[in-house]
Amino acid sequence: MASRSTKPAKSTKRPSGKKISAAAKKKALTKRSTAKLRAAAVNTDGNKPKLYASLVVQLLSLLKGEHDFVANAANFSALLFNSLPNVNWAGFYFLQGDELVLGPFQGNPACVRIPMGKGVCGVAAQQCETIIVPNVHEFPGHIACDVASNSEIVVPLFDGERLLGVLDLDSPTIGRFDDQDAEGLNELVTVFVAHEEGLGV
Ligand code: SME
Repeated sequence: MASRSTKPAKSTKRPSGKKISAAAKKKALTKRSTAKLRAAAVNTDGNKPKLYASLVVQLLSLLKGEHDFVANAANFSALLFNSLPNVNWAGFYFLQGDELVLGPFQGNPACVRIPMGKGVCGVAAQQCETIIVPNVHEFPGHIACDVASNSEIVVPLFDGERLLGVLDLDSPTIGRFDDQDAEGLNELVTVFVAHEEGLGV
């Protein structure tokens, strides 16, 4: 007959009466709101137009009353990163002179400067067009910032005719982005830039 271990199980109980620190509470709240965003993405049942419509509402609410460009771009990238499934990088490159310079983003550290016409970002900026790359390994001149990335979408940002930069999203899934993503992301950047218009960005 197998004998049972008499070793007491390790207690995971919180020592009674111990208060949860403010930092722990904050962490729990952050975790909960991130979970909510992910749940919102999941609840769209793979319906991309519905998901992007809900992101427009969430973006408008994040932007409301705030006109700091960097802060708004940072929250925008966090919203995308936490709401869109299968995305490992989401963020901005802004045009400075004749190169794109890394802006607010979520994901692994990335290359800081991209010359116009180089990489997916530089080509999208130069051609002033949204570019969907189903397999980045087949894109000539693709700049690999995260080895996990297999597909990518880059959306240029305009203030009227003026190119401000690009929004870049990477995914570990080949063929992750399609025309519905292009449409949804273009609507989101239009909302974002319209909010920032006249701020001298
Ligand atoms: N892959 C991009 C570079 C930026 S990272 O993906 C964040 C490109 O080829 O332009």
